[in-house]
Amino acid sequence: MRDLPKVELHLHIEGAAPPAFIRGLAQEKRVDLSGIFTEDGGYAYRDFHHFLEVYEAACSVLTGPEEFARLTRAVLEESASHGVVYTEMFISPDFCGGGDKAAWREYLAAIEEAAAGVPDITMRGIATCIRHFGPEKAKQAAACAADTAGDFLTGFGMGGAEDAFTPADFAWAFDCAREAGLGITTHAGEWGGAKSVRDSIEALNPSRIGHGVQAIDDPALCDLLVERDITLEVCPGSNVFLASNVFNGAVPKLANHPIERLRERGVKVTVSTDDPPFFHTTMTQEYENLAHTFGYDEAVFTELNQNAMDAAFCDETTRETIR
Ligand code: ADE
Ligand code: ZN
Repeated sequence: MRDLPKVELHLHIEGAAPPAFIRGLAQEKRVDLSGIFTEDGGYAYRDFHHFLEVYEAACSVLTGPEEFARLTRAVLEESASHGVVYTEMFISPDFCGGGDKAAWREYLAAIEEAAAGVPDITMRGIATCIRHFGPEKAKQAAACAADTAGDFLTGFGMGGAEDAFTPADFAWAFDCAREAGLGITTHAGEWGGAKSVRDSIEALNPSRIGHGVQAIDDPALCDLLVERDITLEVCPGSNVFLASNVFNGAVPKLANHPIERLRERGVKVTVSTDDPPFFHTTMTQEYENLAHTFGYDEAVFTELNQNAMDAAFCDETTRETIR
């Protein structure tokens, strides 16, 4: 399973930071982050909002382009070791220069250069605003994204707390990014319900949705996803740890996850890890779990990877090289 070529569309660069990497930076900078780690060295969080707090605390010691370059190398080497041949990573201008365009350019250049040096894997970046930071910060993030849109930075997205503001509040930011030629995705339907997916489609017109799995509760919405050819970036392991809403009261375990029901309805699904060390997962682990729970075989994984390649935010030449 590990050697099977994989395409990953949904990976947060900061969320992929190994705990030891963050602990090392905290020690160097004499910042006390002991509260965010478990005794055995993993990340400790109670629920979704606390996860976001821990995530942001970890980000607080990640400062400067060189640290992001080191992180990029570490994350891509790990991904490549799990057979990932192409990956798209969410990078937040908020954590890379705080929305300042000149600073963001330096961070992004360092990340791009680091990525180019890692063999056997191609990376593209998705600049990402953070929903609970609000529409004004999102506009700054979008302006940064638009300023650097090109071969490497190919998408714009939104993560963060799905219950903060409404998708329509971010329409300006997404329009700005779209006009710069960036591909559009947004987190929705991870725990904000099917309505959150529908509202996001109406307000932001994304070609992909991060998670989106709660669409399963609304058959007409599933039809809309099929009709509009919207691809879901499904992160099953993340949902099991973080998003009990996805399971509608059932035990949050993979067997109760809607990925296969969505696929049966004809919705295009793909598989990603989201924030692998937070959820004790890897792409190999995700594939093994899906094979074990739903009987997915090589033919199904080929289909999922095909969906991912079709929905990837890259040019046709790059798409051909990963086929
Ligand atoms: N940021 C990092 N991981 C996230 C997730 N799973 N949902 C929303 N925002 C995030
Ligand atoms: Zn995510």
